[in-house]
Order: sequence, then structure tokens, then C-alpha cells
Amino acid sequence: MKIIKSLDKLFHYLKKFKLKGKSIGFVPTMGALHEGHLSLIRQARKDTDLVVVSIFVNPTQFGPKEDLNKYPRPLSKDLALCRKEKANFVFCPKPQDMYSRDFSTFVNVGGLSEVLCGKSRPGHFRGVATVVTKLFNIVQPDIVYFGQKDAQQAIIIQRMVRDLNIPVKVRVMPTIREKGGLALSSRNAYLGKDERKDALVLSQALNLAKLLIKNGSRDSGRIISRMRHLIKKKKSVKIDYIEVVDSENLKPLKKISGNCLIALAVWIGKTKLIDNVVGDDL
Ligand code: PAJ
Repeated sequence: MKIIKSLDKLFHYLKKFKLKGKSIGFVPTMGALHEGHLSLIRQARKDTDLVVVSIFVNPTQFGPKEDLNKYPRPLSKDLALCRKEKANFVFCPKPQDMYSRDFSTFVNVGGLSEVLCGKSRPGHFRGVATVVTKLFNIVQPDIVYFGQKDAQQAIIIQRMVRDLNIPVKVRVMPTIREKGGLALSSRNAYLGKDERKDALVLSQALNLAKLLIKNGSRDSGRIISRMRHLIKKKKSVKIDYIEVVDSENLKPLKKISGNCLIALAVWIGKTKLIDNVVGDDL
């Protein structure tokens, strides 16, 4: 496994493989790797000849009051995990090499970036779309891997790839959860012991929605209010949003249908957690 910091070096190495006709699978991450990330690397390993993982805590997707400096960066542990999963290249560029001082070009996926998580994080998805475009251009992969856990992000990337004719295939992989149901997230590391228990309420609320739907409920408003009621029982939890939306255009849906996305975001103390289910899971 090669660990590469320089853009030019990565470009140079990958070009050699491309000339030999090898396919490249790419997993962009911000590090603090867990089983969720590793599931993406494993899928890339299965699908393609060469696996590139990027580890880059992207400053442009963090708001001024967000956790950029605090974000966990356990690089040597991450590299050991990538090695174990047989990644071929780990790309960990320096922020100043990704963003020159006079950097001024951004990618904005209109309409999808301002809703759900975008409401309380203005500019977040613009930062994500921009860095992902840059990484796609640097790596020039055949297949890229994203997690369903960040449903809005995956939908935005799919739209961006379509709109800008970026020549990659996007694979969205299922959310990996702890035994109790909590979706794995690098931010779970911020949770205290009691908060971790309270965090189970996210998957519990989604399971409640699934059960209601299984029993015939179709009214989004009613389902949301039952989820709200369940979550409100936890004192440390503050709801940011619970929404039922179309899984392509993220517009609110009054009635449950096969292409719906039920997404929620809550604050547990100072940590914001998100989770979702999609039509296929219902
Ligand atoms: P990060 O939060 O590190 O996540 C990297 C990838 O892992 C994303 O596609 C995310 O959806 C996926 N992932 C995270 N938790 C998961 C889980 N429990 N199950 C399955 N997949 C999971 O998302 C980002 O980084 C950044 O925004 C990035 C795309 C790298 C751009 O900076």
C-alpha cells in the first residue's frame, strides 16, 4: 500500500495503472475510519483492480462554528485499517495543496443542497461537491463509493455526476450499524456514555416509522409526529428535522411511496447525528 501526499505523485502512479487498462475504485473519506468506511473499501476491492482511499478533512465543508479543528484525525490507525483492507493507495493531501490561497471555483448542486442538513449548514454541500469534484479529477476513478448513511450527500453526488457528465459510476452502499442500531459515524466518538444510550433513539424512531408503514400507515405527517413523540422522551435530544422526502429531488412527500426517504437529524448534547431509511428498506 502506498501512502501519497502529493497530487502529482498520485497522478503519476495512477496513470501507469490506467495505461495497463486497470479499473480504479475510489473511496473518499475524512478519516477516523470505522466499519462503515471499511464496507466501502471492501466493495471497491471486489469490483475493481485498484483501490484508492482518500483521507482529507475538507475545510470547505465545515461552517465557521463547526468542528473542523476538533474533528478526529487518528492517521496511523486509519492507515493500518486501509492496509488490512488491502487498499492500494491512500491519498492524504495537505489542505494548502488542495486549496491554493486564491482558490475561487466552487460546485453547487442547486435545490438539493439547501434542504434537510443544508438548512442549518449553509455552504456545507457546496464544500462537499467541490472537494469531491476535485478528488474525482485527481483520481479519475471508474467507480466511486458512498454510504447511504449520508443520504443527502449521496443524492447530491449522483445529481452532480449526472449534471456535469462526470465519467464515473456511483455506488451507494447500505448503512453499517452497531448491534443496538446506532449508525456508525466518526462523530459518535464525541458522545458521552449516557448520550450514546440516548443516540439509539434515532434508529428506534426509524424502526417505528417502518413498523407503522408495515401496518398500513401512509400519511407522512402522522408518521413524523409519532417519531417526534418518541424522540422527545429523551431529554438530552433536540430535533433538528424529521422529514419524508422524494429520494431523487428531496421534495417533501405527503404520502409514503416506494421512492421515499425518511431522514432525521438530532442534536445529542453538542453532537449532531443523522440517520435515514429509504423506500427499499420499508
Ligand atoms: P466521511 O464522513 O468520512 O464518510 C466517508 C464515506 O463513508 C461517506 O460516503 C459516508 O456516507 C460513508 N459512511 C459513513 N458512515 C457510514 C456507515 N455507518 N455506513 C456506511 N457508510 C458510511 O462523507 C464524508 O466523509 C465527506 O463528506 C467526503 C465525501 C469525504 C467529502 O469530504
